[in-house]
Amino acid sequence: MMRAMHTFPFILTISSEKGGVGKTTLATNLAIYLKAMQPELMVTILSFDNHFTVDKMFELKGQQQHGTVQELLNGVPATELVLQGQYGVQYIPSSNHLTELYQEFKGPMALCRMMAESGLSGIVVIDTRPDLNILTQNALYAADRVLIPVKDMPSLENCKHIFALFDQRGIDKKSLSLIPCLIDNRIKYDGIFKDQRTLLKAFAINRGYRCLETYISKSPKVESLNTNPDGKIYPILGHARDTEVHGQFSELAQDILTSYHATPEPRAYLYHRWLKEQESQKKEAFLARLEGIPAHCVICGASLDGPTAKGFFYESGDRTSRGFLHSDCFVTLLCNTLYHLPVNSEVHALSLQMIRESARKSVAVFLPSADDDGGYRLRFMQLDQHGSALLERTVSLTGFSEGLFDGVRDQLYLLLNESLAGYDGGLRNSWLAVHPVDEEHPQQVLQEPRYRQLQELHRRIGTLLDA
Ligand SMILES: Nc1ncnc2c1ncn2[C@@H]1O[C@H](COP(=O)(O)OP(=O)(O)O)[C@@H](O)[C@H]1O
Ligand SMILES: [Mg+2]
Ligand SMILES: [Zn+2]
Repeated sequence: MMRAMHTFPFILTISSEKGGVGKTTLATNLAIYLKAMQPELMVTILSFDNHFTVDKMFELKGQQQHGTVQELLNGVPATELVLQGQYGVQYIPSSNHLTELYQEFKGPMALCRMMAESGLSGIVVIDTRPDLNILTQNALYAADRVLIPVKDMPSLENCKHIFALFDQRGIDKKSLSLIPCLIDNRIKYDGIFKDQRTLLKAFAINRGYRCLETYISKSPKVESLNTNPDGKIYPILGHARDTEVHGQFSELAQDILTSYHATPEPRAYLYHRWLKEQESQKKEAFLARLEGIPAHCVICGASLDGPTAKGFFYESGDRTSRGFLHSDCFVTLLCNTLYHLPVNSEVHALSLQMIRESARKSVAVFLPSADDDGGYRLRFMQLDQHGSALLERTVSLTGFSEGLFDGVRDQLYLLLNESLAGYDGGLRNSWLAVHPVDEEHPQQVLQEPRYRQLQELHRRIGTLLDA
């Protein structure tokens, strides 16, 4: 049902740190078997390796290429890149330039998100390089099923790194399964482990790994499919039907199809839903913050919708009040009350400019405290964005509790009284921080991640003031 509305592909990743264990053979041929066994299913293959096997196998001549996996990983939607290939399988062309992406690749879940937004449906098969680089990790975390081919003890030994990756991130390992590959049935042992496959399986289970009953035999016929005079690579389905391996691939493809049908909510969908939830939570939190904000500047009383720029945001340490201030109102307040600059003095205009500049680079903190004689004193600080004090001074607030103003301090009174007033008419036991905001987009301060950074700074201010 859900797949039909917005499509979320089921991801099958083939991975192993060892080369030569049969990854690419598995990935390419499985894609063909899956499509053959369920023709209406969309099957797409892509590879993070640079050997171009996928391209050699699936390329239909005369198709215009729109980009490669490199573009995919740079954010181009998969549907713009997929090409219709042979055997009904779609593919995204391989790239030689993926190593250049490693450094700046956007975290371990980026591919999962890209797959969720890809517009692809059905099954996507991902072939990986023989290592656990960031792209392989992405392919592992995005996968609904991971097949890890093992052919001998060293390759079995190496599986532990994949399992450890899942443990580190706390991801359920039930998507992971080992599959014995390149099994030579002629090799027989004495004792309980009668052959290579039984031995590998016993060791796998002993280590707590899930190991498939299905395995892939070593077959000279299959090996020969890679080497052809025309440079092509032939599929097992068309060219090695008489081998045991054909039956084994059919069985494996059936197993994957069963998983696919049993997974109405693939990982890409679950991740997509989780992201949406996060987004809507963030949006709700933003709207809730916005709700309590006064429509006017508490210093001048004029509407904030007017043409005067809003350049500062205040919030009390106890988070109960917040709002925006006109740039000019706040800078003038600083000038008058804290720097005691007489209005109209010659230096006034110049100083105003300096104070404006320093205010736009720092956070102003106001901490009023009651005096012994019932009055108020104000501790004022300017901090940098990391919470280190740049300036500190104490101002007496004579007449504050009585509501006596001297004309000059009215602005400060209004700001503190509007933001820190308690129920008893005095000021709450809290403080006020005033932050510069982008005059073009003042509300951004209430959005993530900016608001979270602000809260982090407030925590530091709280600790600083307590000390
Ligand atoms: N079932 C098989 N029987 C015989 N040779 C195989 C079989 N599967 C893969 N090979 C051969 O083993 C080599 C490695 O396979 P490949 O799929 O490229 O492994 P990987 O991608 O892990 O490096 C190739 O030469 C391939 O033809
Ligand atoms: Mg390979
Ligand atoms: Zn104002």
